Amino acid sequence: MAYRIPEETIEELRERTDIVELVSEYVSLKKRGKNYFGLCPFHPEKTPSFSVNPEKQIYHCFGCKAGGNAFSFLMETQKISFLEAVRILAERAGVSLPESRSEGKKDKTNDLLYQANEFAQKYFHHLLLKDKRAEKARTYLKGRFISEKIVQEFGLGYSPSDWDGLLKVAVQRSISGTLLEKSGLAIKRDDGGFYDRFRDRIMFPIQDRSGRTVAFGARALEDSQEPKYLNSPETPIYQKSFILYGLRQARDAIRKTERAIVVEGYTDLLRLVEAGIGNVVASSGTALTKGQAGLLCRYTHRVTLVYDADLAGSAAAFRGIDTLLEVGLGVDVVSLPKDYDPDSFVRERGVEAFQDLLGQAREALDYKLEAIAKTQDLTTVEGKREAIAQLVETALRIKDEIRRDLIVRQIVERLNTDEKAIHREMTRQKKRQRVVDMEHAAPTETNTEPQGPVVQRELLRIMLGRKTIAEEVMKELSPEDFSAGAFREIAQTIFEVCRAAGEPQAAVVIDRLQERSLASFVAKLSTEGLDENYIEESLTDCLHRVRIDGISEKLSQIRTEIATAQREGDETRLGKLNQQYNNLVKEKANLVVQKT
Ligand code: CTP
Ligand code: MN
Repeated sequence: MAYRIPEETIEELRERTDIVELVSEYVSLKKRGKNYFGLCPFHPEKTPSFSVNPEKQIYHCFGCKAGGNAFSFLMETQKISFLEAVRILAERAGVSLPESRSEGKKDKTNDLLYQANEFAQKYFHHLLLKDKRAEKARTYLKGRFISEKIVQEFGLGYSPSDWDGLLKVAVQRSISGTLLEKSGLAIKRDDGGFYDRFRDRIMFPIQDRSGRTVAFGARALEDSQEPKYLNSPETPIYQKSFILYGLRQARDAIRKTERAIVVEGYTDLLRLVEAGIGNVVASSGTALTKGQAGLLCRYTHRVTLVYDADLAGSAAAFRGIDTLLEVGLGVDVVSLPKDYDPDSFVRERGVEAFQDLLGQAREALDYKLEAIAKTQDLTTVEGKREAIAQLVETALRIKDEIRRDLIVRQIVERLNTDEKAIHREMTRQKKRQRVVDMEHAAPTETNTEPQGPVVQRELLRIMLGRKTIAEEVMKELSPEDFSAGAFREIAQTIFEVCRAAGEPQAAVVIDRLQERSLASFVAKLSTEGLDENYIEESLTDCLHRVRIDGISEKLSQIRTEIATAQREGDETRLGKLNQQYNNLVKEKANLVVQKT
């Protein structure tokens, strides 16, 4: 259900949530002065540089510069959306969320996309069960031992081979070709018409976590047909990297077994479910993304990767391992005998044999070491060094210090080396990483502060949390007077809050900022020390400075214009420009004198 949370509700949640209490659920905090300190949950560290300010209801890390309020804390640590953070806080605070009728425009278009996909799913499913055209498809599924029960549970379907099977019925239900195209279900022809994207295929509906169909995977009925699988393109409701096939159905089983099994293919998943193994999701043939790993985090601490024995399989497993470790999950790996996938393995050898394999799953590090041992001679110095480098790369993904130390000890043991060598390698890789980070850091990254004139930065700093100051600034300046884009946006936001009769508290401003790096910057600004006695003076100074700077900028503009006018011999224009120039010089001189 897509809806907007009313501003008052957010306000209420903010009032009822104590950030110290909330953060304490995740980080152990100690009071020091006005603030609380603990180990930062966003980067590995040994001494606490993560601070929580109860007065301002914000957090800020002096180490990695992460910062924000209760909402962003949940979003970042739990890898969830704003809406989900709102839900969690509402639950904690016992606030019930009203169902709003005033849905945003974006939500409305999304609703249409959901409707189109929902309709297509029902249509394809109905055809598979009832239509004469789907005879072939039914035979195919029988041949692959996919039962009626699975067809029902996963809503499988069949897309007819006509070029407009779906289009025709959709249009009768007022679902336009344009909407089908936006939903990824139809393709536009050069003449402006549309045709069905999916034809003569088994349809696997891909659902989001609330069970809504957001996309399809579609398999050809014959292996000779290319491509074997065809998938929906990404749409506003389908972001591949945040969806796992089967998660909706597997959720409870994953919670119960405290383990999620990850396979590659749709049919692998269906086979395991059919065989009674329910805690399984499919990555749909790509390496696991951080978003997908984040989804799994919510239901379990442990993930078992099941991959083919071949090299491609182990490369995918390597990447998967690192991604999963990075979000804090425990990982083990099952590799199948050559030429098998989970589907064929279970069918030929039975589910017990598969359970045995699961029982023999190897700890990620062991698996990686074994794979490395296949290509490196670990008895040579060179081979050992390479192995250390690769294992350390994995170990460094682990944010939790205790777990990382444990892994280091494991590496020492397995490679029969000394701990110093591992730590040397860790330092080397960390250093290299820092260089890479610095080289690639975009201005939006949290580790670099937005750059701009210092006075403007100072104005932002004193406006935060001080409505009267902000109003003084508003009288004098407009957002456009803030020359750096980032500063302008923050100023604009502060002004908006004031105009809406609110207090421009950092927490409030942070909520309204779209960009995360800006939010972190605001959090940082508001934690910087400020002598309250000098705020008025600072305001006067800064406004003054900004005015002078503004004039200087205009002067330099006029100088270029004067040069152009001279070149073109435009005497009238030149006269006007000189006049303007002189006035501005006088104005500037007055301001400067006034100051001293
Ligand atoms: N895949 C895809 N596009 C392809 C091939 C594969 O999206 N052209 C994805 C599908 O999600 C597929 C997974 O990668 O399920 C694994 O591919 P593969 O092992 O080739 O297929 P299987 O799942 O074994 O499919 P089947 O058993 O139906 O042949
Ligand atoms: Mn297969």
